[in-house]
Amino acid sequence: MRKRPEEIKVLVSRIYPEIGIELMQKEGFKVTAWNKDRPMTQQELIEAARKNNALLCTMTENIDKFFLNECKHLDIISQYAVGFDNIDISEATRLGIPVGFTPDVLSEATADVAFGLMIAVSRKMFYLHKTISKGQWTYFRPTANLGIELKNKTLGVFGLGRIGVEMAKRCKGAYNMKIIYCNRKQNKIAEKLLDARLVGFDDLLKQSDVISVHCTLNNETKGLFNKAAFNKMKQSAIFINTSRGMVHNEQDLTEALRNGNIWGAGLDVTNPEPMQPDNPLLSMENVAVLPHIGSATVETRDKMSKLAAENIIGFYKNKRVPCIVNPETLTSK
Ligand code: DGY
Repeated sequence: MRKRPEEIKVLVSRIYPEIGIELMQKEGFKVTAWNKDRPMTQQELIEAARKNNALLCTMTENIDKFFLNECKHLDIISQYAVGFDNIDISEATRLGIPVGFTPDVLSEATADVAFGLMIAVSRKMFYLHKTISKGQWTYFRPTANLGIELKNKTLGVFGLGRIGVEMAKRCKGAYNMKIIYCNRKQNKIAEKLLDARLVGFDDLLKQSDVISVHCTLNNETKGLFNKAAFNKMKQSAIFINTSRGMVHNEQDLTEALRNGNIWGAGLDVTNPEPMQPDNPLLSMENVAVLPHIGSATVETRDKMSKLAAENIIGFYKNKRVPCIVNPETLTSK
């Protein structure tokens, strides 16, 4: 039997943009939002989730088998992110819990960060900014602080999905870069739009001047960019990762940069997160690091909040979750 709106209690696990909370309240749902500026511990989350029917959470919450079995009463979990590697999807599916997520709305903002990092690395911007604050800007030196140009270079996209396509569009439009990509499936629309060419992983490594990672984190992609991969890349190549830090091996990346096996790296995601202040990558000239801000614009975070709420509202109103990871849970209910 369907719940009446006033019977629907939603736990919101972090401080999220108000827009989504207001939407759910307008529907008559009772929303309880965690108001501390830190993630809940798993125990806190379990205790709070037990008093609610639905959970709106994000990647800081560990929604593993243990959590799911402690909270199998949940009608729906709505993830405020496009990535959902913090959730044991197969267990959620086994328990019949639908999991919503927020794809598309953050693609452009995230691609902007990948594109920005690429330029920042190619011109050593973050490093040179720091030298000024240390009083090291002396005089104009014709052969110092030289970067490399991106015009007509080759962009290799690992994971040409929504965000990868946006990154490729920016690189093609700004620098006429040639686009190659490595995917499980051919992306014919992107091939037409961007003249992109599907290649194998080794060819992507060998041919790219810039590699930009936009895949999901799973057993196949975990640690894929390791010593062996960096060794196959051009010594002039730039590695960009805005997906998940665990896709690269940070020790191997650091060594590849130190040994000059690749030229530079731009990271919006690190392994582990947060990166510690004494991490050697932070003092390297050709490295730019950001604290996982891909989707962090006012507009995008509002859209994510709205979509995460709409996933919950859709579920209770008409058993439709606009963006769902495991649609089979809806047909089996
Ligand atoms: C995502 O959505 O997966 C990002 O990493 C956080 O916005």
